[in-house]
Order: sequence, then C-alpha cells, then structure tokens
Amino acid sequence: MSPLAIFFFVSITISSLFSTLGVEVSYQDTIPYENTIMAPWMDSFDKKPNVTLYVCFKEDSCVVNGDTFGLKDTIEGPYVTLIGSELNEKDHYVYVCVDIDADNPRKPYAKNQVHWLVANIVGSIQPYQHVADVGKTVVPYLQPHKDFFYKGDYGTHRYYNLVFKQSIAGQNVTFDGDVRHFSVRKFVRENNLGYPMAGVLYKIDYNSKSD
Ligand SMILES: *[C@@H]1O[C@H](CO)[C@@H](O)[C@H](O)[C@H]1NC(C)=O
Ligand SMILES: *[C@@H]1O[C@H](CO)[C@@H](O)[C@H](O)[C@H]1NC(C)=O
Repeated sequence: MSPLAIFFFVSITISSLFSTLGVEVSYQDTIPYENTIMAPWMDSFDKKPNVTLYVCFKEDSCVVNGDTFGLKDTIEGPYVTLIGSELNEKDHYVYVCVDIDADNPRKPYAKNQVHWLVANIVGSIQPYQHVADVGKTVVPYLQPHKDFFYKGDYGTHRYYNLVFKQSIAGQNVTFDGDVRHFSVRKFVRENNLGYPMAGVLYKIDYNSKSD
C-alpha cells in the first residue's frame, strides 16, 4: 500500500470514528468495562492526553477497543500510528503490544508475552507513517500462535497496545530479552516511562483457523 493510500484510509477512518463517537464521548461511556484499557492506570489521569493510538489490521478500519480477530487476520502486523495535538516533536515515544493471556486465559503462566516493541518513535510522526518506520524496533512483530508456541495455547487472548512517552529522547530503551513473563511495570520503571499516554485493546481467538 502506498503512503498516500494509507493516509487516506487513516483519515477516513479517523473522521468516521470521530463522527460516530463524537469527540466528547469517553470510551467508558461507549464500551463495556472489560474492554477498557488498563483502567486503574488510565484513570490516574485527571485529563487524558490528546494522543490516540491507531492499530489497523484492515485497510478500511482500525481497531475499536475490544474487537476480536481470527489468527489468519493477524499473521502480518497491523498498521500502527499515533495522532494527537499533545505529541511533542522533541519527544520520543514507545509502543508495546503484549498478550496478557499467554499461554491461555485460564492459566496465563507466560503472561505477558511481548508481540511488538518499538522505541524512539519521533513525536513528529504523521498519520501516514508507521511507528516502525519512524522509530527503532526493539522486538519485531511476533505473529500469534506460531508453531514454536505451546500446544496449550487456546481461548481468546487479550492484546494490550500501549504508548509511553520517553523521559529522554534518544534514550536506549532496554529490555531483558525474555519475550515471555514480561512485566510492563518493571519495563516502565527501568526505562523511566511513567503512565501510558494512549492504548487500545484487541482480542485474538486462538481457536480460530490459522490458514
Ligand atoms: C486532538 O488532536 C487532534 C489531532 O492533532 C486535533 O485535531 C484535535 O483538535 C485535538 N483535540 C483537542 C481537544 O485538543
Ligand atoms: C546508547 O547505547 C550506546 C551503546 O551502548 C551508547 O554509545 C550511547 O551513548 C547510548 N545512548 C544514550 C542516549 O544513552
């Protein structure tokens, strides 16, 4: 897809999102509680920063909190971008996607499993730019339920997609290398990141057909 096409689909999706939801309507009013993002963290804001994370698996639609996808829809990583008046050109941002139900929602022994981690995303990012193209990929996109995962993988997994602002632009965002048992809080503490600025949750049905 050309950058121009991406720009158009993102703008169309965004304008339709705003017109359907209305800018003033909060997510809490429109979606079930279980589908909200990290409620206790996000609720710590008096005023939510005006930064929106767009995660788009299809050309004509981006994830709305709580959407469920099949395995075959998520083989390729989504198109991910950031938009908002509170993105600062001088700052850098971190995007992380974690499966909080690995290996399965009943016994999530491996929680959290990192599926994507991009740091040093420039604050001047445009809607037609993918975070990975204007940042540094720390963990490349990891397709859900790849062969080397465990046979016990099943159920519907929740994938949290979060954005943090770096305290120092250009800092070396470090990561201990274990994509399983990843602690978001530890990662945030070690890298001095603070609360998430934006986030979106989608789910993947691991019982769906993968081809
Ligand atoms: C939020 O950011 C968007 C994109 O930059 C902008 O169009 C919109 O006016 C901003 N909203 C507020 C309330 O500042
Ligand atoms: C990041 O790490 C590299 C290599 O270890 C080092 O040369 C560089 O100074 C570090 N940058 C910052 C901003 O700490």
